[in-house]
Amino acid sequence: MNTLFTYVRDSFIPADQASLLIGDLSIQRGYGIFDFFKTLDHKPIFLDDHLDRLFHSAAQLRLPVGKTREELKTIIDQLQRKNNIPDSGIRITLTGGYSPDGYSLSQPNLIITQQPLLFPISPECPKPFRLVTWPHQRQLPETKTIDYLMAIWLQPYIREQGADDVLYHYDGVITECPRCNFFIVTDDDTLVTPARNMLKGITRMKVLQLAGTKLKTEARDITLEELRTAKEAFITSTGKHIVPVSHIDGHPIGQITPGPAAQWLNGQLYRLVQDISHPHSHQTTSK
Ligand SMILES: Cc1ncc(COP(=O)(O)O)c(C=O)c1O
Repeated sequence: MNTLFTYVRDSFIPADQASLLIGDLSIQRGYGIFDFFKTLDHKPIFLDDHLDRLFHSAAQLRLPVGKTREELKTIIDQLQRKNNIPDSGIRITLTGGYSPDGYSLSQPNLIITQQPLLFPISPECPKPFRLVTWPHQRQLPETKTIDYLMAIWLQPYIREQGADDVLYHYDGVITECPRCNFFIVTDDDTLVTPARNMLKGITRMKVLQLAGTKLKTEARDITLEELRTAKEAFITSTGKHIVPVSHIDGHPIGQITPGPAAQWLNGQLYRLVQDISHPHSHQTTSK
């Protein structure tokens, strides 16, 4: 197998040798941000949207990126040429840096890793998820921080409940899953997603845009009680696209999973990314 390279602190290093010193604030205090996008057939998908969010997250955490958007694109291109993985996930991480006292901010360390895509993207919805709810509010929720403490801590609980993932709420108002945004379809066929106190996912944005051509859409509070009357529920992320939700806290959602909205949106999203990755193929273009 070819050597996999990682970009770390201005150098391309074999991935199994890439490292940071233990004084980094990410290790000492869990301080840092990241973003994650995929490539399909070597084409980065929604790269500018992900870079917009990366710069936003970095500014929120007072971390200078140290590179321009164009410089980042050049580094990503070089990494892709070295690794030659057509379908991949690329993660850009910016840490708090080598803090002199283990507490104050320093010059951030920039890391970019690439790995083969774990979850194949398909025109069919994947197997539905069962969710369990949990009261939790992420800190600085509109920032993509490296802090997944609660999510990782909850893994045994999720398994004990026979669930696939957790759905956070705060004061009974739904926010998101640890790595996905959340949607419901209401009785009057409106697609609704939370508006605040969560990360604004790039997939969420694309789904809202696609849905707007066919369904009424709303970004507003969704309460725990409202879940009982939802016709459909699904979650979205870069890695997974659209995953239908069949049960929340053991209660079934809707009549059939995947529901028609999840299925249609998944097909539309699939075609959108196909059109980016294979711009000259007309087989996949929806008309
Ligand atoms: C907290 C959180 N919410 C939502 C998402 C989904 O965002 P995206 O669609 O940009 O992958 C993520 C992605 O990892 C996340 O970490």
